[in-house]
Amino acid sequence: MRVNVNDNENIIGTLVLPLWQDVESLEDKACIGLHRVLRHQIETVLADGDFKAKSGSLMTLLGTEGGKAILVGLGKPDKADSNSVRNAGAGVISHRKRSHGTDLTVRFHDVDADLMSAFVEGMILRDYKYDYYKTKKDDDEEEEEDLSVEITCEEDKVSTLKAAAELSAQVASGVFLARDLGNCPPNDLYPMAYANKATEWAKDLPNMNINIITYDEAISLGMGGLVGVGMGSERKPCMVIFEMNPHQPGPSPCIVGKGITFDTGGISIKPSPSMDEMKYDMHGSATVFGVMQALVATGWQERVIAITCMAENMPSANALRPGDILTTYSGKTVEVLNTDAEGRLVLADGLCKAGEMDVSYIIDLATLTGAVVIALGHEATGMWTNDDDLRDSLKNASDACDELIWPMPMLPQFEKEMTDSKIADVRNLGAGRAGGSNTAAAFLKQFVPKRGEGEDAEDIPWAHLDIAGTAWGAKSNKLVPHGATGIHVRTLHKLITEL
Ligand code: BES
Ligand code: MN
Ligand code: ZN
Repeated sequence: MRVNVNDNENIIGTLVLPLWQDVESLEDKACIGLHRVLRHQIETVLADGDFKAKSGSLMTLLGTEGGKAILVGLGKPDKADSNSVRNAGAGVISHRKRSHGTDLTVRFHDVDADLMSAFVEGMILRDYKYDYYKTKKDDDEEEEEDLSVEITCEEDKVSTLKAAAELSAQVASGVFLARDLGNCPPNDLYPMAYANKATEWAKDLPNMNINIITYDEAISLGMGGLVGVGMGSERKPCMVIFEMNPHQPGPSPCIVGKGITFDTGGISIKPSPSMDEMKYDMHGSATVFGVMQALVATGWQERVIAITCMAENMPSANALRPGDILTTYSGKTVEVLNTDAEGRLVLADGLCKAGEMDVSYIIDLATLTGAVVIALGHEATGMWTNDDDLRDSLKNASDACDELIWPMPMLPQFEKEMTDSKIADVRNLGAGRAGGSNTAAAFLKQFVPKRGEGEDAEDIPWAHLDIAGTAWGAKSNKLVPHGATGIHVRTLHKLITEL
């Protein structure tokens, strides 16, 4: 989608008219250049109350000879916020039909700059589709051109809105990368294919170092979690470490992602229904990758570390068994009681690796548990953390982006449950199913690296985000048509660059 912002009065293609609730007629300045038939139609639906401009409502009007308009409701001025207006903008794109053409002119009146920016961001984020594998695009018709959108507003707001639209497009490039990776089928996106994509992506970026720890290296380094989970597959596991702006001083933010390119459950195999969705089990790593892309696109100049732990969880003659004990990179041993609790095993090694990288805080993202979907549905990501400031910053960033993150309890009882293995340091399964997402977080906490030595050693500030409910399948998410959501690319970009 191409976006241009101006203060002129031209209408190119279909007119998109955002309106406040309960306006009964159009101001003259909103009608400049509008064909009288279309203007009459708009005035009629407003006067008759057929279009009330409730938040997110949409109506298409077709002037017989005078062009087309899409009316979009912003709701009541005192109730509207960035989130509702962003969704209204997204609604225009999902509502738009081929017959509206690929040129749109959005004409704003009396909307403040922040809300206009949110509207445009919604349009940009919703204009995404994943059709690389369709040999015939869109019902056999010819491939549609890119949308071209003219935004018109008051002269004094043009430069602000231009800058905001540009920033949205840059960050969206990260969101789209995360969605593309998430949607990619698991036969084409396996651990080393993923690492190769990352290498390819980084190779022309002057300020991006990338280090791939291959399977053989992971074995010699003693990364027992990553190796254990990945060894059952023909497609061996690996870890990717990105260091952005390596010459800038640390300590720096670090994001760590679960990258299970397919999760069959391993020997503790999952039931067949919906197993295809386990191709999304790498979305934590996709988000991490997307954040790096967003940071590059926005020209971020400070040091940032990112780590992705990639493995395919398969049953085979070489696979991990329930009962096995793994020695993780940290040296801690784990009794494997269920091979389907694999995300925490690869993350244990990723978190430990983060401890070597001079980091200020660590955020991990993982489609870690079905239990978090039971707790929070598809509406919010669960967050567990050892640091109140990090909790508040993440909460604020996610609220502003409408990517809801909800604090969950990090209780000592759950830690006790995970550390009471009779024969190893920790176990990878709780005592029962109860509180499954909390016990998973408590497991991860055992692997959060420390700063300092001996008695004085303190855990590095850390937050764990369980995105199992929000990485895909969230029907209430208006910003994405289908499939992978690219969740938290925007939140983390905001956190790293603004908070
Ligand atoms: N990737 C799954 C979690 C998952 C399940 C995400 C459904 C999204 C939808 C994870 O590896 C897993 O299998 N977790 C198990 C843990 C259990 C064995 C302790 C789960 O949630 O059932
Ligand atoms: Mn699993
Ligand atoms: Zn998994």
